[in-house]
Amino acid sequence: MSLVSRRISQLPPYLFSKLQKRKEALKASGVDVIDLGIGSPDLPTPAFIVEHLIKEARDECNHGYSTYQGDRVFREAVAQYYERQYNVQLDPETEILTLIGSKEGIAHLLQAVIDPGDCVLVPDPGYPVYRTGVHLAGGTVVDLPLDVTGNYVPMYDQVDQAAINQAKLMLLNYPSNPTAATVNLSTFVEAITFAEQNHLMIAHDAAYDLVTFAGYKAPSMMQVPRAKDYAVEFGSLSKGFSMTGWRIGYVVGNRTLIKALSTLKSNIDTSQFLPIQRAAAKALTSDLNDVQTHNAIYEKRMEMMHQALHNVGLKAAKPRGTIFIWSQIPEGFTSAQFADYLLEHAGVIVTPGVAFGPSGEGFVRVALTVGEERLQEVANRLHELDFERGGIS
Ligand SMILES: Cc1ncc(COP(=O)(O)O)c(C=O)c1O
Repeated sequence: MSLVSRRISQLPPYLFSKLQKRKEALKASGVDVIDLGIGSPDLPTPAFIVEHLIKEARDECNHGYSTYQGDRVFREAVAQYYERQYNVQLDPETEILTLIGSKEGIAHLLQAVIDPGDCVLVPDPGYPVYRTGVHLAGGTVVDLPLDVTGNYVPMYDQVDQAAINQAKLMLLNYPSNPTAATVNLSTFVEAITFAEQNHLMIAHDAAYDLVTFAGYKAPSMMQVPRAKDYAVEFGSLSKGFSMTGWRIGYVVGNRTLIKALSTLKSNIDTSQFLPIQRAAAKALTSDLNDVQTHNAIYEKRMEMMHQALHNVGLKAAKPRGTIFIWSQIPEGFTSAQFADYLLEHAGVIVTPGVAFGPSGEGFVRVALTVGEERLQEVANRLHELDFERGGIS
């Protein structure tokens, strides 16, 4: 008898832990590896947030368990953030739940909503946790194709109606990982209408809502009238405030889904450390100046990298948000081959598009998570390559 469940043994290895191992091996052999693979911001958490964590950690009243739903101060801060950013009113008691990062929340929501055999529409390409989360919940992934030539909006008419009829939930993500696509509110209006017509619920992942530039401001799905009847929206402090390791996020919206997730979680965890929730509350209710400073840095890096890719003939749309560029690859390579090629010949790690779903083939994701000097080094190394001959010129 196997010691490991079928659900676990059938999971593909988590891509980024595989890349991490490869990177370590290369570094050990003396290669100066530049990692544009994993999407973890390199910029530090703003100092006022760290200071507030220290202050709250010094208060011994904060050393016990949080309430299961999360600290009221944090949930009120999320409500205030939605009011200020999107003019959306949320009830902190029933429409907001603290998460130990949005990844945890997304995976657990699937457990709380999906029964074995239920279908879930998953954006293709999309953040890998959506697929594995559906698998772990015993559900069936139905690929939701996105319009490559039209800003990666969902192409609902390309999905078999029989599969749509079986679907209980649809996942969406804008600004998007990996494509860096951004949308206007009309995309969310269409999504809610689709959910209404097809009797399904939506989980919108807004992890990059604050990471925007070039004059673009990301809308919230909650701004659509009746959104709370059909959708929840996940938020994260990880990207906008560079707090990936802190493990703090939230979910807002439909109270039935939030209650189901809260019930599941109350049997698994006891929410996040109170000082982390308090510091995150401070971040959400701040003037967001540090977010703007970080965004200006990402925008500059994006311009630099976009130009570098263009110079070697690699086409990519210019993003208005996220910390990624989604680049086409040269002819004659698969995305995995091209990622291997870059690693072998340039010491640069990028993520093969196919890691994000079948439609990611033909692309690689480039993360803008190193400084300008290192990006210049990437540009120089790219310039040395000759893709046509599959070797160094
Ligand atoms: C689209 C998307 N959603 C969610 C997450 C998870 O973020 P966290 O769990 O740190 O809140 C990530 C992280 O890379 C992401 O890219």
